Amino acid sequence: MATEYEIKKQICEIGKRIYNRGMVASNDGNISVKLNDNEFLCTPTGVSKGFMTPEYICKVDAEGKVLQAYEGFKPSSEIKMHMRVYKERPDVMSVVHAHPVYATSFAIAGIPLTDPIMPEAVIALGCVPIAEYGTPSTEEIPDAVSKYLQYYDAVLLENHGALAFSDSLLNAYHKMESVEFYAQLLYQSKMLGGPKPLSEAQVQRLYEIRRQFGIKGKHPADLCPNAKQGKPSCHSCGGNCSCGGHADADDAALIAEITKKVLASLK
Ligand code: 13P
Repeated sequence: MATEYEIKKQICEIGKRIYNRGMVASNDGNISVKLNDNEFLCTPTGVSKGFMTPEYICKVDAEGKVLQAYEGFKPSSEIKMHMRVYKERPDVMSVVHAHPVYATSFAIAGIPLTDPIMPEAVIALGCVPIAEYGTPSTEEIPDAVSKYLQYYDAVLLENHGALAFSDSLLNAYHKMESVEFYAQLLYQSKMLGGPKPLSEAQVQRLYEIRRQFGIKGKHPADLCPNAKQGKPSCHSCGGNCSCGGHADADDAALIAEITKKVLASLK
């Protein structure tokens, strides 16, 4: 079992990696680790995550209130977002927020990562939805992210960046790397004339492998509400299932019908 000081050093190491890989600019991004139900370590606000030492790291309670912080350091302004993940996902031990160029570009363009283009991304992530825009540091982002937490281990934050979480700091960081790599491949294959997606049968075989490996965490292969109802899941519905944050075809038809009736009643 790593000591608290060792975990602080690990957070600094991951901070260096996200900074050196260009996943954050300047003072962007934040990282947290759960020690137990009442104690969490987190990066401080307003510092470059590439140049932290263990003294920078703050300790907060489950409400995000400071338990310990060295003079001059305050917890991340996004601590509420981290705390919401821990509250709603007791299996999560670490949360990483970054602004990687490709993933953030998709978040800005409003395009979720849903094309099944390579086995590792299908197995590790399934697909990655976009949580609706919220003002940083307010409850808006935690509220927007909340509805995806039971289905995914990574989400894009609209016009903002990406959020990844897992059962360890290293795994949460790796999840962020996977999101960015997937986004980069998707972007570049679009430049080359568009990706040639895997077939539904190929996707199903990859889902099966994920199940056989017993990979932990949430994945739409098992949880997508559409898949549960026997409808196509994320990969084959192009992100139109409800867990992708968009109304599905049935909802769209219902909304159209209601709109028609409302308009007719106004005539
Ligand atoms: P903090 O430095 O307060 O963690 O904020 C950085 C950031 O990226 C906000 O989205």
